[in-house]
Amino acid sequence: MNKLITKLQKSLAAFLVFIFTLLFTNITYAADAPSAGNAVEGGKLFHANCASCHYTTDQKLTGPGLKGVTERVPQPYQDWMLKWIRNNAAFRKTGDAYANKVFTDNSGTAMTVFEGTLTDDQIKNIIAYLANPPQEIAPAAGNDAGNKQGAPAAGGGENYGTILLITLGALLILVYVLRTVRKSLVSVANQKKGLPVHDDMSFWQETCQWIRTHKVHFAVINIFLVAVFCTYGWEYLWGIDVTPGYHPSQPINFRHDIHAGVNGIACLYCHSGAEKGKVAGIPTLNVCMNCHKGIQGSNPEFQKEIAKVYYAVGWDPQKAAYTNPQHPVEWNRVHALPDFAYFNHAQHVVVGKLDCKNCHGDVATFTTDQQFAPLTMGWCIDCHRATPVQMAGNGYYAKLHEALMKQDSSRKITEADMGGLECAKCHY
Ligand code: HEC
Ligand code: HEC
Ligand code: HEC
Ligand code: HEC
Ligand code: HEC
Ligand code: HEC
Repeated sequence: MNKLITKLQKSLAAFLVFIFTLLFTNITYAADAPSAGNAVEGGKLFHANCASCHYTTDQKLTGPGLKGVTERVPQPYQDWMLKWIRNNAAFRKTGDAYANKVFTDNSGTAMTVFEGTLTDDQIKNIIAYLANPPQEIAPAAGNDAGNKQGAPAAGGGENYGTILLITLGALLILVYVLRTVRKSLVSVANQKKGLPVHDDMSFWQETCQWIRTHKVHFAVINIFLVAVFCTYGWEYLWGIDVTPGYHPSQPINFRHDIHAGVNGIACLYCHSGAEKGKVAGIPTLNVCMNCHKGIQGSNPEFQKEIAKVYYAVGWDPQKAAYTNPQHPVEWNRVHALPDFAYFNHAQHVVVGKLDCKNCHGDVATFTTDQQFAPLTMGWCIDCHRATPVQMAGNGYYAKLHEALMKQDSSRKITEADMGGLECAKCHY
């Protein structure tokens, strides 16, 4: 009996080590799984490249709703979709029946060709995302839609991790129970034989003894634990308050893809501050009413959202007059640098001639506004080191620059050379 339990304990210990290793490798995978068919990456790519024409619901936009698309296209869907997304025009010419059918079903509107824009791996990621999209918003489906959509994909990996952790806990308890049972069995056996009972060693004493007799094991375990702790501690510390992808829900589900994308409204029409000074600014609802006095929405979803604009400004669409009480909208802020850092839009947009895209991503395709860049100090500095200063348009500097280039033609003048790395330019 005694021996049996000792054996059991040993095999359990081995199993524990196994579970722990599994847990460790699993966390590592979950943290940076770059393998083919990464649905999280795919989700981002989908929102950047496809969301302007496709919903992941049943709803049609320019293209058909992609809910269940992996089931309706010819199987294996991976192959068919790869060919279609890569170059649908060429694929149709090969005479593929289904490809030609979707095309005619959509009254011959052609989809964008992505060959050259997206690599095959990227397309595979998108397919992985479409095979199992998150609970996506129906178009403009009200208030908290933004939160659900593309929510920081808590991959299956994390669930798996939790299960392993629970198993680990249960096994530890089991080991403890078995150890206690064994101890009492030993003492009973010893008592029967009339030997002295050795049950006065506490758990702590036993552990110390084990450490004394297994110094190498102990050292290895410690090194391993310290390494794990440092790796995750370091990554965790760097990640505090760094939130690219952050997309709070908004009181009105304002969609940049419809305004800046489909309707091509210039960013500066609404964010006119970006040219003038520090703050780009969120437009007042009067700006919206320039158009929305007339545009009430072409479908019930849009009408519902646009009605919120009317409610806010007190517009009565029947009487076409501002006769109702006003209810100011409180937009949720997406980007927020800490107060100790100074950032100025005009410096970048006007003087630096940078496009909004550099820092905000392709906003014209966003269905919910989101933070694109990490907004860390390293991000600012990296760009200042890499971006050449715009000389054109300023005779004085253009001349100086020419003179410098004569000295060393390989050298480009970046923002870093102009003091873009000086602490006081950004902190004051
Ligand atoms: C400019 C608009 C547009 C963009 C951008 C676009 N699509 Fe399409 N897509 C369409 C249209 C329109 C169709 C219908 C077929 C046709 O008319 O060519 C379609 C069809 C499809 C189909 C077949 C749907 C079915 O019902 O079988 C898939 C899959 C698809 N698109 C995936 C994508 C993916 C993935 C992306 C992004 C990489 C994307 N599309 C980007 C317009 C677009
Ligand atoms: C029709 C008006 C309109 C146009 C055009 C427009 N925006 Fe916006 N933008 C808004 C409104 C309203 C908000 C606040 C709601 C939100 O965050 O979605 C906003 C929010 C933003 C934010 C986030 C602000 C924050 O809270 O940090 C950024 C960044 C942004 N817009 C960039 C752009 C860019 C880049 C373009 C051009 C491609 C653009 N916008 C075009 C109206 C507009
Ligand atoms: C060099 C990078 C950069 C460029 C280029 C840039 N932005 Fe920004 N933008 C930022 C940063 C950083 C913040 C956060 C500022 C803060 O929190 O003080 C921000 C914040 C915003 C905000 C919300 C806060 C505010 O200032 O009103 C809007 C709206 C916005 N940007 C729109 C635009 C538009 C429109 C353009 C193009 C005309 C543009 N940005 C170009 C970096 C940039
Ligand atoms: C230059 C004209 C113009 C301006 C300015 C404008 N819109 Fe729109 N808006 C449109 C058009 C066009 C549509 C599409 C209507 C449709 O297809 O039914 C639309 C659709 C919408 C919708 C429904 C789709 C969606 O985004 O959920 C909402 C809500 C909306 N606008 C809110 C606003 C707000 C808030 C502002 C001000 C920050 C604004 N609009 C400024 C032209 C404009
Ligand atoms: C996409 C590249 C890019 C990013 C990202 C960027 N900058 Fe800049 N920044 C520039 C360029 C280019 C200039 C130079 C404009 C000019 O020609 O004078 C500049 C100029 C500046 C200046 C003026 C420096 C001077 O010499 O007077 C400040 C301050 C500044 N940036 C702060 C920031 C901060 C803070 C951030 C991060 C939140 C940031 N920048 C992110 C490109 C960038
Ligand atoms: C181009 C602009 C820029 C310059 C130059 C710059 N910083 Fe920063 N710094 C920032 C921004 C933006 C943040 C906020 C980052 C964040 O919120 O993650 C920041 C954050 C910090 C922080 C807080 C820690 C952190 O990472 O959040 C410290 C400390 C700091 N800076 C010190 C310095 C010192 C010292 C220098 C000069 C050697 C310097 N900075 C130069 C833009 C700059």
